[in-house]
Amino acid sequence: METEKKRSEWSSKLGFILAYAGSAVGLGNIWKFPGKAYDGGGAAFIIIYLCIVVLIGCPLMISELTLGRAGKADALTVFKKLDRRFRWVGWFAIITPFIITCYYSQVGGYVIRYIIAYAKEPQAVYARPLNYFYEILGYTAETGESNFPWGAILCAFLFLSINAAVVMGGVKDGIERLNKVAMPMLLIILLVRLCVCLTLPGSGEGILFMVRPDFSNVTFSTFLNALGQAFYSLSLGMGITITYGSYLNEKENIPKNAMIVCGMDTMVALLAGFMIVPACFATMGAENIGKGASFAFASLAGVFEAIPGGRFVAILFYLLIFFAALTSCISLTETLVAYAEERLHIKRKAAVIILPLIFFAVGILYTCSQAAYDIKGIWADFATGLTFPCFGDSMEWICDRILTPVCALGVCVFVGWFWKPASAIREIEKDGSRFGLGKIFSFLVRFIAPAAILLILIVSLATGVSLG
Ligand code: PHE
Repeated sequence: METEKKRSEWSSKLGFILAYAGSAVGLGNIWKFPGKAYDGGGAAFIIIYLCIVVLIGCPLMISELTLGRAGKADALTVFKKLDRRFRWVGWFAIITPFIITCYYSQVGGYVIRYIIAYAKEPQAVYARPLNYFYEILGYTAETGESNFPWGAILCAFLFLSINAAVVMGGVKDGIERLNKVAMPMLLIILLVRLCVCLTLPGSGEGILFMVRPDFSNVTFSTFLNALGQAFYSLSLGMGITITYGSYLNEKENIPKNAMIVCGMDTMVALLAGFMIVPACFATMGAENIGKGASFAFASLAGVFEAIPGGRFVAILFYLLIFFAALTSCISLTETLVAYAEERLHIKRKAAVIILPLIFFAVGILYTCSQAAYDIKGIWADFATGLTFPCFGDSMEWICDRILTPVCALGVCVFVGWFWKPASAIREIEKDGSRFGLGKIFSFLVRFIAPAAILLILIVSLATGVSLG
C-alpha cells in the first residue's frame, strides 16, 4: 500500500530527476569529495574517479533503476520476486543506509553549527579555523582539553528533528518543491564561490595539484577510495536507487535519466573539489591541510574572511549545504522508515520517532570519537588483521570499503549473469526507444564492473588501508 502510494510519487521526469539528484547531491559531494581528492593526489584521483563513474557507476545506476522498475518494490522484495538467492543483497540495503544515516545526521548538525557560528561569531572562526572546528567537536587544541561536544550534538538533534518532521509529513510537496529552488541555487553559489576561490592569491599551486596528474602515490587503496566515494555519492550499492527506480513509470528512459543524474552529481563534486582544494592551498598552506571533515568546514574560513560580505556568503553557503544534506538524509530515512513500516509492522509515526532516536544515539559516538574522546571502532583486513581505529572512521570504512562494494557486486553479478542483461534491456526498452548502448552496457555489467569491484575489494583488503 505504502509502496503504491510512493510509486506514484514521480509525477514527472523532472520530479524524479530532482528527487534523485537531491538524494545523490549531498555531503558526499561537498564534504567528502574534496578531502578524498586531496588525499588521493588531486588530479590522479579525479581521473580514477571519472573512469569509475563512467565504467562502473553509470551501468550500475542503470542496473539498479531497471531492477527497481522491473520488481516494483523495495530492494529486499525485488530480489525476493526476481531471484530469492540474491536476497542478501537486499539486506545490505538496510544495514548500509542505517550506518550512513547515523553519521550523516551528525555532519548535518555540524553544518547547522557553522550557520550559527557565522551568524554569531565569524571573527572567532576566522581567528583559528581548524581549532574552531575541533572545538565544535569537543577538543580544545591549545590546551589539549576534551569536553562533551554539546553544541555539535544539539545541532545534530535539530537536524534529525527537521529530517523527521519532513519524513513524517511526506516528502512530495515540501521537499521536492524545495529542491527545485535549492538545487539551482546551490549550483549558482558554487560557481560564484569557485570563481572567488580560483582567483585567491596562492591558489595556483592547488589548481595545479588538481589538474596535473601525479600517479606516483596511487595505490589500490586510492582505487577503493574512489570506488567507495562514487557509490556513496551516486547513492549506489545500498538499495536506495533500486527503491527509487521502483517508482519510475515505463515511459521513462532509464539510461538517459541515469546519465543526467551521474553527470549532475559528478559536476557538483568537481566544482566543490576545485573550490575547496585550491582555497586550502591558498589560505592554509599545503602542509596544514586537515583531512576529511575539516575540509569543508575549517578550510573555507580564510576564503570567507577574504571576500567582502563573506560572512553572509558563508551563511548562505552553509544553508545550501544544509538543504543538500537534508534532502539526502530524507531519502535515507524514508527507505528505513518504509522497511520498519512494511516489514516490522511498526506504525509510520512511531518509526519516524524511534529510528531517528537510534540514529542519534549511535551518531553521538561518531562525533565524540572524532576528536574529544578515544572511542574505538573495529576494522579488519588481511594485512593488519583486526584493528581498532576511531569509531567514526570504522563506520565510514565499513560502508565505503566493504558493504557498498559487496552489494554493488551482487547487483552486477545478478543483472549480468542470472537475470541477464537481455532482461534488463527489455525492461529499459519498454519506453519504446531502442537502447543503443545496450551491447556496451551488457559488457560493462557482465565483465568490467564486477571484475573491477572484485579486484579492488580483494587487493585493498589484502594490502590494508591507508587512509587519513
Ligand atoms: N549520495 C549522498 C551524498 O553524496 C549520500 C547518500 C548516500 C544519500 C546514500 C542517500 C543514500 O551525500
